[in-house]
Amino acid sequence: MARALNMAKTTLDFKGDFPALAQSVNGKPVVYLDSAASAQKPQCVIDAMNEVMTKHYANVHRGVYTFSAETSAQFEDARGKVARFINAASEKEIVFTRNATEAVNLVASCFGQSLKEGDEIVITELEHHANIVPWYFLKEQRGIALKIVPVRPDRSLDMDAFEKLLSPKTKMVAVTQMSNVLGTVVDVAAIVERAHAAGAKVLIDGSQAIVHYDIDVRALGCDFYVFTGHKLYGPTGIGVLYGRYAALDALPPYQGGGEMIEKVSFDKITYKEPPVRFEAGTPAIVEAIGLGAAIDYLNGIDRTAAHTWEMEVFHAAEKLLSAIDGVTIYSTAPQRASIISFSLDEIHPHDVATVFDHLGIAVRTGHHCAQPLMKSLGVTGTVRASFALYNTMEDAEKLSAAVQKAKRLFL
Ligand code: ALA
Repeated sequence: MARALNMAKTTLDFKGDFPALAQSVNGKPVVYLDSAASAQKPQCVIDAMNEVMTKHYANVHRGVYTFSAETSAQFEDARGKVARFINAASEKEIVFTRNATEAVNLVASCFGQSLKEGDEIVITELEHHANIVPWYFLKEQRGIALKIVPVRPDRSLDMDAFEKLLSPKTKMVAVTQMSNVLGTVVDVAAIVERAHAAGAKVLIDGSQAIVHYDIDVRALGCDFYVFTGHKLYGPTGIGVLYGRYAALDALPPYQGGGEMIEKVSFDKITYKEPPVRFEAGTPAIVEAIGLGAAIDYLNGIDRTAAHTWEMEVFHAAEKLLSAIDGVTIYSTAPQRASIISFSLDEIHPHDVATVFDHLGIAVRTGHHCAQPLMKSLGVTGTVRASFALYNTMEDAEKLSAAVQKAKRLFL
């Protein structure tokens, strides 16, 4: 439906597909610049979720009756859509999780069982807490060492330092493909190549990157790739762990419960194969179907044109902000996308965001769940404007005018 709409319009005006963006906030049309935290939802996602609940909702894989069969088929269909979207070899490589955080925790917890004191895991200074804390647990629990790849002064990842950190002790490299704070885009294909040459597995946090780039997990060659539905224009409560089948199959179960077992007795329990081995309990059925609808939406638009448009708006906003005295932009890596992290003189980021809110503009402020990166930037927090395909040049101009207004009010 969205495809027909956009093709008929033959414009890049996606805003109309997202009902929340037609609202006003504090008497002003909403300007949503917090999509890196969570994206707005197109009508087709809302409709798909509504439809399953109003027409044939039931639990999945547990009933022979029609409602259950229909809902199960749609749920598994969503898994297939995810697999094709990232070019996985099979839908058996797609595990549904609660979010990207749970997907990282799953790998850290299960893979971690094979680690021993002195083994090393390489992460980077760019990581979100979700790709730090689960590995830190292994440092506490199993005595592994965490090795940290630094960020260069230009805010790109220091690939030379990365290579030097690799050794026969490295068991896993866990790295973001795009920083949620700086928008820095990391050459993860090069990371996979070098990590594999050193005998390590690779987990990529694609939570931000998958929103803006076509992802081909087989071309990347990674062992694990995680992302979340709610940033990809889908619902909350659903995330994805892609695992190359052999890598996934080598993992022991995560949580125990219904569905993930083959046979249970009090003496012996056997487990199913992936992906079900990792999906104990009733899954997020409606949410998975909603994620499938979000993928349909993205498959139905010209994603290359949408990306080009989004980057034009993003660069226009960068240009406008960098022309304002007192604005310091931190997101300056040569390879970057869709995120501007900045400060305005000594004004506290929360104060800036409060002024923005009065003008209908939504941004995120604070440490963005990346305290080590904040430390390396020498700040405690920033204002972060993040762009999605539905943002417009007018949004960029309103952001710039809002910064000027905050300046007038506070300085
Ligand atoms: N990870 C999300 C963000 O960067 C919540 O805002």
